[in-house]
Amino acid sequence: MKNDSYSYKGDWDQIYSRHYNGLYNLPWMRGGFDPMLNEFLDTLDKSSRIIDVGCGSGRLCLHLMQAGFSQVTGIDVSEEVIKRASRRGRKAKACFKAIDLFDMSDESKFDVVFCKLLLHHILPNDEPLFIEKLHNILVPDTGLLFLTFLKTDIPGVTCTERESYFSKQHNVIMYNPEYVKESLRSAGLKKIIKEGDFTMPGKSKQFDYHIIICK
Ligand SMILES: C[S@@+](CC[C@H](N)C(=O)[O-])C[C@H]1O[C@@H](n2cnc3c(N)ncnc32)[C@H](O)[C@@H]1O
Repeated sequence: MKNDSYSYKGDWDQIYSRHYNGLYNLPWMRGGFDPMLNEFLDTLDKSSRIIDVGCGSGRLCLHLMQAGFSQVTGIDVSEEVIKRASRRGRKAKACFKAIDLFDMSDESKFDVVFCKLLLHHILPNDEPLFIEKLHNILVPDTGLLFLTFLKTDIPGVTCTERESYFSKQHNVIMYNPEYVKESLRSAGLKKIIKEGDFTMPGKSKQFDYHIIICK
């Protein structure tokens, strides 16, 4: 595996300083939100405390604020992208913070945690702790997690790898949804509310990602 010296912060800052425009011009980064996300939003109370973990450009946070959600926070490990998100969100008074999920205090609690298109950048050794951290920032019992990630469907395989568009050092880790559900169960997120696949049209290739909503 290429990725054994991954520094989430350093590497993402570098990716964003070199490739911000390229990254946010990828079709799946600038397209609309998937139908399951919009349906899910309709079920939420507008005063829910919401966090988007790995918020990137802040697109989802701004969408949520425009939809009338009043308590929205976006966090990302990259200071570089948080600067940009904060500039974009200045008018909306959106709250963006540069913080690594692994360093977040378990005392902060949210009714809804979004974590979109980030898990497939987390190394397999870090994945169980990452899921545990997502669980720890949810309000116990009622908090909802909306998780999306690139997937592999090869039976019995935890994950497969493929080259990243932007990083020569680091691959993208495509997790098996069954394995991710096992990690979620182990962390205490035992109830799957909804799950499904979503196909993103790429410029030259197509691939699927998986959505899990659970608590
Ligand atoms: C592919 S981007 C997805 C951005 C956004 N969620 C979206 O759907 O457009 C993954 C984001 O996760 C952030 N990230 C990576 N590791 C992180 C960590 N440990 N804690 C918080 N954010 C992280 C990266 O900086 C990057 O902005």
